[in-house]
Amino acid sequence: MVHTEMDEDILKVLISEEELKKCVQKMGEQISRDYQGKDLLMVSVLKGSVVFMADLMRAITIPAKIDFMSVSSYGSGVKSSGVVKIIKDLDQQIEGRDLLIVEDILDSGMTLSYLSKILKARNPRSIRIATLLDKPERRTADIQADYYGFQVPDAFVVGYGLDYNETYRNLPYIGILKPQVYQK
Ligand code: IMP
Ligand code: MG
Repeated sequence: MVHTEMDEDILKVLISEEELKKCVQKMGEQISRDYQGKDLLMVSVLKGSVVFMADLMRAITIPAKIDFMSVSSYGSGVKSSGVVKIIKDLDQQIEGRDLLIVEDILDSGMTLSYLSKILKARNPRSIRIATLLDKPERRTADIQADYYGFQVPDAFVVGYGLDYNETYRNLPYIGILKPQVYQK
């Protein structure tokens, strides 16, 4: 599919639609096996993970419930501000339940380390992290994903839910954004 206006801002396609599809399918199968008989609650961290969430939940073949949470560590730019705040909390009680946090990208890890800390305090039975992308080079917090799709280099990527300034989320692939786009 052609998204000409946005495609022009992409330096390089890192992960194609086809590769994303295969990977999410495999992860869904794995999660379905691991959570058999459990009370799976998938928690999507808005907004970056919505596309991944929508595909991953349909690749899961056991009963699963979903909820959404919104935290912010980035503002609208490309560098972490170091500030993480809750913008929208969960609707559901999580005590005794099996939580799977669904994230778009694990970068510095600050967002998820903060988020898992506050969720752990609510006493879920278990808590795991599924991230589509992992940028291990940039990690500053002591946190790892239990499920990850792809490791990516230290470059700013967009598409499949990931944004720059709220744009590019609807690109169906993951691409590296041309630096001149955010240096403008
Ligand atoms: P962390 O707290 O540094 O791990 O940042 C996590 C959040 O930062 C992600 O959920 C994204 O919203 C955003 N982020 C980090 N790296 C990128 C990127 O390369 N492209 C788009 N968003 C990113
Ligand atoms: Mg973001």
